[in-house]
Amino acid sequence: MSNTHKWWYDAVVYQVYVRSFADGEPVPGDGIGDLPGITARLPHLRDLGVDALWITPFYRSPQKDHGYDVADYEDVDPLFGELADFDALLARAHELGLRVIVDLVPNHTSDQHVWFRAALAAEPGSPERARYLFRDGRGPAGDEPPNNWSSVFGGSAWTRVADGQWYLHLFDSTQPDLDWRNPEVGDMFEGVLRFWLDRGVDGFRVDVAHGLYKEASLRDQVIPEETKGRKKQAESMVERVLRDEPMWEQPEVHDVYRRWRKVLEEYDGDRMAVAEAWTQTAESMAQFIRPDELHQAFNFGWLGTPWSAKDFAAVITSSIAAVATAAAAPTWVLSNHDVVRHPTRYGGGEVGLARGRAATLAMLALPGSAYLYQGEELGLEQVDVPPEARQDPSWFRTGQPGRDGCRVPLPWSGSAPPYGFGGADGTQPWIPQPTDWGGLTVEAQEADPDSTLAFYRRALATRRTVFTGAEEATTAEADGDLLVVRRAGVTVVVNTGDLPVPLPAGEVLISSTAVSDDGMLPPDTAVWLR
Ligand code: NOJ
Repeated sequence: MSNTHKWWYDAVVYQVYVRSFADGEPVPGDGIGDLPGITARLPHLRDLGVDALWITPFYRSPQKDHGYDVADYEDVDPLFGELADFDALLARAHELGLRVIVDLVPNHTSDQHVWFRAALAAEPGSPERARYLFRDGRGPAGDEPPNNWSSVFGGSAWTRVADGQWYLHLFDSTQPDLDWRNPEVGDMFEGVLRFWLDRGVDGFRVDVAHGLYKEASLRDQVIPEETKGRKKQAESMVERVLRDEPMWEQPEVHDVYRRWRKVLEEYDGDRMAVAEAWTQTAESMAQFIRPDELHQAFNFGWLGTPWSAKDFAAVITSSIAAVATAAAAPTWVLSNHDVVRHPTRYGGGEVGLARGRAATLAMLALPGSAYLYQGEELGLEQVDVPPEARQDPSWFRTGQPGRDGCRVPLPWSGSAPPYGFGGADGTQPWIPQPTDWGGLTVEAQEADPDSTLAFYRRALATRRTVFTGAEEATTAEADGDLLVVRRAGVTVVVNTGDLPVPLPAGEVLISSTAVSDDGMLPPDTAVWLR
């Protein structure tokens, strides 16, 4: 059967970063968003016109990586509510016609997970340790890490325990990596999938989907002299910087997703899964979405593309071609909770916002699904969070600013922090909000037809009426500084240059910022023409 008409194939999915969306019960005014806060604000998502929301982890967790360190995969952290609050959220979302995708974190647990606590209490070589990657150290005294791997958050990927063994953590030391070669691990996660599927979730976002398996030898990574210290960037898919990576993209990982696909297909209602896979090439990304594996994978190549018609055209063309080999749907994303918000990446200020809106409008014309990150519909920029307020584990490990600046709680109403985020008693959010966000609140933007919020609502509504088939052929090319995309009788033109250019003929269906009737398309502007 063709996938063409399944809901996720061309859905617009809105990412909710649970700590920063809205603060409701159970601890009113603690300054941290929660599940009842999301439920209360679901009408915002209905009015925006998205099809689904993806909620970042809300499971029991010590919050060392803000939920990506899970201590119990089948319970809600008391910070965010309880299981009944999740059931209420899901029921309300479904009433409003919104699907719900939850996050699954299979690469590592929290160090507070019952398995890891048992592993620490047990002997080297015990079955409890065999669920993780414990190894003896190198050197005569075993006091050097077992290999040269680095944590994504900086420093060594190994931490030593009291009896002298070391355990692997590709992220923070509080996030020990599981050993997926141990069958107990796969069985545990099948149980977790079923737990949430039975509750009625529509899909999963799979964290670090390219991780899970490590090359069995756990050998050293070969790091050429010239790339030492260079971090893997989103751009790598575009640049095709191929590196030796014995910790990522091992062939065995695909069997996990074949197993999960079978589980998902046992359920009715077109349940789906989307991979967060930072693969080295578009081709290796496509392997995660073969017909018997996951349904989608985030296309980070689009997110990493600089403001350039030529580069946009190249990424659109290669992304569509790569997923075609897997007969899957492309996906597009510009911002998420791990990267600098896209208006800031495009230069910030008025220009950054205009470019951000133009890139969004181009994205919404592309086939497949688009993932939006909370706050982009308000045109929020990256915030320079003061050092004393930073909370990202990578900040603590490296001294680099980290990801807090894209995780600042949303402004809903009013003219001063906490901008209706919650906390009627005046409690401030867990990351401080800028004092100049009064004009950016949902309330303020609802009153302004030229606001970014009004633009997003128009764009999503126009997408629904204009692009009705998921599989129309799409072409993208650069004509000098113009990006020209053609799909379903619509021509999308984005002016990435510095000067106005004559607007091609046709009816303007929507523009990213106002276009006057002088027949010119200003710089940093996108239009849909028919
Ligand atoms: C990717 C998540 O998006 C990020 O926020 C998290 O820190 C890492 N995976 C580790 O789970």
